[in-house]
Amino acid sequence: METQNTYNYKVVRQFAIVTVAWGVVGMLVGVIIAAQLLWPELLPSVPWLSYGRLRPLHTNAVIFAFGGSALFATSYYVVQRTCHARLFSDGLAAFTFWGWQAVIVAAAVTLPLGISTSKEYAELEWPIDVLITLVWVAYAIVFFGTIAKRRIPHIYVANWFFGAFILTVALLHVVNSAEIPVTLWKSYSAYAGVQDAMIEWWYGHNAVGFFLTAGFLGMMYYFIPKQAGRPVYSYRLSVVHFWALIFTYMWAGPHHLHYTALPDWAQSLGMRVSLIHHPPSWGGMINGIMTLSGAWYKLRDDPILKFLVVSLSFYGMSTFEGPMMSIKTVNALSHYTDWTIGHVHSGALGWVGFISIGCLYYLIPRLFGRTEMHSVRLVTLHFWIATIGIVLYIAAMWIAGVMQGLMWRAVNPDGTLTYSFAESVKATYPYYAIRLLGGILYFSGMLLMAYNTWKTVVGRRPVEAPIPAVAAAHA
Ligand code: HEM
Ligand code: HEM
Repeated sequence: METQNTYNYKVVRQFAIVTVAWGVVGMLVGVIIAAQLLWPELLPSVPWLSYGRLRPLHTNAVIFAFGGSALFATSYYVVQRTCHARLFSDGLAAFTFWGWQAVIVAAAVTLPLGISTSKEYAELEWPIDVLITLVWVAYAIVFFGTIAKRRIPHIYVANWFFGAFILTVALLHVVNSAEIPVTLWKSYSAYAGVQDAMIEWWYGHNAVGFFLTAGFLGMMYYFIPKQAGRPVYSYRLSVVHFWALIFTYMWAGPHHLHYTALPDWAQSLGMRVSLIHHPPSWGGMINGIMTLSGAWYKLRDDPILKFLVVSLSFYGMSTFEGPMMSIKTVNALSHYTDWTIGHVHSGALGWVGFISIGCLYYLIPRLFGRTEMHSVRLVTLHFWIATIGIVLYIAAMWIAGVMQGLMWRAVNPDGTLTYSFAESVKATYPYYAIRLLGGILYFSGMLLMAYNTWKTVVGRRPVEAPIPAVAAAHA
């Protein structure tokens, strides 16, 4: 029975299970669109199966359904455990679960139908935007309400990151989604021209920074010390890099608009802030990795720790690569090419995917009264095939991207272009095959996870964990 003396694990369980399910769906669509780039005639020629409609379905499913559900599950778990308090409101928490699932289903129906604002990562039309706003306000009330009723005076650093993620996503969503509805399923942006582009990429970059990074750093700060059995390497570093990170993210958006109609000074500002952004990002990575000092031997046979630590390596890689790509001369080569897609997926598959998967493998057994997953060997297998999958995916995209950039800029002595665009597409073909193989491997890992999750939870009674009677320093 649920009482005020127990944690609310029900909503954590619900979000944890749907994270696995949406991960499978979103990545399946990823594999399909990767195959479509290889074989454009793969699917029947109906509009709702076309690449242009399935691509936003993929990005929305993996970012908001898979990533979003992982963030809800872990933030609700962590805030309760580190505050020694039950969630502020069970009713509102349940509303966030069902409301968020409704958003996802609405996205899965409207995007293939071609109903879209056309703003990347903010494609959903205005009625869904309104629902997102309601869910998000409820989420903020539940999260900050729990912090307010905490029985531990200190606010653990993971909650700082989750809190920053919740507040900033609210701001980004409301400002970028300002639009004028003309019918039930059609609206126009409140902004026009280059202002619209700037607002969109202020949103887009911070969606990466807060939706795909800050909340996941919150996960890192709780689950890595827990799994490693070690305290965070440096609490001071965590606070310093927290403030540096959230300050710099806000200004870096213009690096998505190099060489456009955006004023040149704004582009240069975006580039410089992106370069400054590198040390705070690495502060987080170093803090996470160094937490393993004295516990490195655990990596040998703990696949959860493998997922968590390798996710940090990919975080370090993509946050080194990102500032480099922000340099205007580098971006002149990388923009429009598959290099960007390689960068995206080293962050998405390596960092976001791996940290979520590691945290879920930690959480799922505990939420169902078990000490570990049904099969730890399958977790290890998942780790290896997914790692090989990422390496194939991103290496193929890096090579293809640099090749495309060089082919597009090659000129003959008489000033004419050396290669036609179609020639560069043809040269990319083998790399699309390698990317597809990498994607299939990563997706197969998710299928293993779904099977293992099923075997872990089926027939088990959900657990109710008591809140400690005397507030202690550690959760
Ligand atoms: C099996 C795994 C996956 C496969 C095979 C896959 C495949 C793809 C493909 C083919 C594209 C389109 C690339 C293009 O237009 O040239 C794409 C775009 C994208 N994917 Fe994935 N993906 C996978 C997993 C993920 C995950 C887990 C995330 C995020 C957490 C993610 C985030 C994105 C984003 C943000 C884009 C848009 C990139 C851009 O516009 O620059 N993907 N993916
Ligand atoms: C220091 C951190 C980072 C910086 C400075 C940075 C910078 C950049 C730059 C310059 C681009 C290319 C823009 C263009 O040419 O259009 C880009 C694209 C992108 N990055 Fe990063 N990046 C960082 C970290 C990350 C991480 C950790 C992730 C994923 C979790 C990520 C996800 C993306 C996505 C999704 C895009 C594609 C946006 C689009 O065009 O649709 N980035 N980033």
